[in-house]
Amino acid sequence: MPGQLERDFERFKRELPRDFPAYVRDAYRIDLSARYLGYSIPHPVGKGSGQLSLNQDQLETDLSAGLAFVVLKTVIAEDSAGQQAMAAWAIHETRMRVERRESLAGREGWTVTWKGRGWDRSFEEYLKLVRAAAELTRAGAMVVVPSVKYHLPHLGEEFRESEYHYTTKLLGEAWGEEPLPLEKDFSPTLAGDELADEQEQILRWLREVPDQIRRSVARPVRLALKLMNARFDDEFQLEMLRAAGGADTLIVFNRLWDSTKRVAYGGFDLSDRNLRVLRAVREAGIRCPALVGTGNVCSGRLILDYALLGCESVELHTYFQIPLSEYSAEQGSRTQRALHSLIFHPSEVLIAGMLGLESEGLLERVDGELRFLDVVNTGAAAALKRFGTPQTPYS
Ligand SMILES: Cc1cc2nc3c(=O)[nH]c(=O)nc-3n(C[C@H](O)[C@H](O)[C@H](O)COP(=O)(O)O)c2cc1C
Repeated sequence: MPGQLERDFERFKRELPRDFPAYVRDAYRIDLSARYLGYSIPHPVGKGSGQLSLNQDQLETDLSAGLAFVVLKTVIAEDSAGQQAMAAWAIHETRMRVERRESLAGREGWTVTWKGRGWDRSFEEYLKLVRAAAELTRAGAMVVVPSVKYHLPHLGEEFRESEYHYTTKLLGEAWGEEPLPLEKDFSPTLAGDELADEQEQILRWLREVPDQIRRSVARPVRLALKLMNARFDDEFQLEMLRAAGGADTLIVFNRLWDSTKRVAYGGFDLSDRNLRVLRAVREAGIRCPALVGTGNVCSGRLILDYALLGCESVELHTYFQIPLSEYSAEQGSRTQRALHSLIFHPSEVLIAGMLGLESEGLLERVDGELRFLDVVNTGAAAALKRFGTPQTPYS
């Protein structure tokens, strides 16, 4: 098997097969099927909301690369008069810098520095993109879902229901008959805002926002809350997870906030924190909605780490943006090159990692196949072995 993996890694540098999950199933007897927001997807790798999901060309590229799902850029909710309580998040900013960032533990990773925030074009244009997203999803080509930032009130203030109603209604109409899938973004820039200074306020949002969204329209909504890394300790992250039980899925956790530079950042500090908190969730036996990991997924190993701690899929941004010279593949779009490394790298491992779990007796074949979702479902013992006790720092 390792010999075959090395050979595949080499030959797919030139071109990744479009249906690589079928190839993996056939050649390795590994079923990469995963889940995102209740959708069954062929493998666990998707694209998080951001500057890489703003238009149909980007969707076409991701579709032909074989990405499993895409979350559209976050739109700022508005009411029928075009009023946006969160208008400060709809700012226009084009300049992004992809930079190396060393973590507190000394590991070098990548981060994207950018001062922009949400969708800065018209809601009409966003709805057009949502119609295209719905078509791709309905056709079974690729799951593509919208993302929204709705009004978040101060304690004692009411939610602006008119924004919830108008925005969700129009998104639903653009989506069509089926239940509307939606990510609600609690972003790192929000964590850095004075709105998020109080813990009670954040917990209220997490408890009440799912219901606000669901009762704003008559149609069913499949709802994911994308949780921020608040500027409080790990214990508060657990409190947030306990409060967010009204969602169908939780995306854990968006980027960290650098309060000196006033920018969001990622890299290994982000994955270290996220995995440490997810490990604490396991240890504390907290029951959560389905989980999707986000944060510094830059190798198959990181996909497995998130999966071992309960994540049914992962959504990436930064790894699709690093310099071309950093990928092993020699040709193809950034999405293709990223998938090539994430799935086939012979040591930084998704396939090799699953085979490794099998040889350690931590993952069993079912009908002759190893299944990615079994890593998620039965990963508790394996996670404990891999991550040690909660006191042990992740390494
Ligand atoms: C430039 C940039 C813009 C982003 N914009 C959004 C956004 O509008 N909504 C959102 O929910 N997440 C946004 N994100 C967060 C990403 O989707 C992702 O969850 C996060 O960056 C962690 O993953 P990564 O380490 O792979 O980048 C953005 C990230 C970056 C780098």
